[in-house]
Amino acid sequence: MLVRKRTVAGLVAIGFIACAADKTLAQDTVKIGLILPMTGPQQSTGAQVAAAARLYMQQHGNIVAGKRIEVVLKDDVSVPDTAKRIAQELIVNEKVKFIAGFGITPSMLAVAPLATEAMIPTIVMAAGPSIATDRSPYIVRTSFSGSQSSRIIGDWAIRNGIKSVVTIVADYTPGMEHEAFFKESFVRGGGRVIESIRYPLQNPDFAPFLQRAKDARPDAIFAFVLSGQGGTFLKQFVERGIDKAGIKLIGPGDVTDDDLLPAMSDAALGTVTAHFYSAAHPSEMNKAYVDAFKKASGMRPNFMSVGGYDGMHLIYEALKKTGDKTDGDSLIAVMKGMAWESPRGPISIDPATREIVQNIYIRKVEKRNGELYNVEFATFEAVKGAATAAKN
Ligand code: PHB
Repeated sequence: MLVRKRTVAGLVAIGFIACAADKTLAQDTVKIGLILPMTGPQQSTGAQVAAAARLYMQQHGNIVAGKRIEVVLKDDVSVPDTAKRIAQELIVNEKVKFIAGFGITPSMLAVAPLATEAMIPTIVMAAGPSIATDRSPYIVRTSFSGSQSSRIIGDWAIRNGIKSVVTIVADYTPGMEHEAFFKESFVRGGGRVIESIRYPLQNPDFAPFLQRAKDARPDAIFAFVLSGQGGTFLKQFVERGIDKAGIKLIGPGDVTDDDLLPAMSDAALGTVTAHFYSAAHPSEMNKAYVDAFKKASGMRPNFMSVGGYDGMHLIYEALKKTGDKTDGDSLIAVMKGMAWESPRGPISIDPATREIVQNIYIRKVEKRNGELYNVEFATFEAVKGAATAAKN
């Protein structure tokens, strides 16, 4: 027993890196090409998703339905052309049966046509534009759609006395969508968006935008920043005295990312966001997940990590269901409608859209045992993603 365990653990460790072809096992090996930003500005997303995938394999072994699972991890540095070239290599040379990952939307969009052409199930574990699964019939998403959070926080703001807002979002597809989805519910409820600011995706310096927002004297700033950017955003928010000016901070949960929250100042306290995952989610499964993740990686898991963990679960369960078949159509067919408990709560794959259906929680930053957490206080159950891209 002990020997077997040690052997399996050894294979997991080897299987996660690109290992030399094992000819005797070649036909029984299922390769997953994991494309993530392991370096560059979004490297925290790569680190979180890769750690979660690795943890899933450690917990569930690397043999599924008689096949050996091997993850081939590649760094796209968040450059879409690189993601595309890597995907081509993974398909042609590595003969992967799945592609997964994607730290940012442009990388996912660059790979989508290849998924269709090669009929490869492609699991979006991290990116969050509303346009994703409609880009290829072979795309399934385990991350999130920005629409799921931003509409809900728009409604919450109205019901909680926020009448005017300045929006600050990253200037690319997900940012524009967050801005549009938030406006849709906030303006419909009678709120006023005084100004919509978009900051450049590369090397963001939020200071001038935050100053402009402060000068407009809104009740709140609605912010969408990418995972990994929230620490700088909050620091510059405090430096401009925006918290002291009584201007609230709201948004989807990217700004109070669990990965960065422990290092943020107490100025984050009271920030209300809508999101699908908090490390403080009070389920037994999540407590075990957070403990195991911290132990294995030294990091607190964030919302990107659960997309990776659940993406691996989707792949494992699909392989169990299809048995000997590893073609794209068979695998996608069994993924449709699949439902399971995730560390974030109950989730499923919408059979019509291949989009994740999940709870969205309203959370407030509070201190628990001396550490900052997003503490959930309201739940919107089984929220679907937007079927179409946001207009404007
Ligand atoms: C995306 O590019 O889809 C993306 C990246 C980081 C986030 C959210 C969305 O925090």
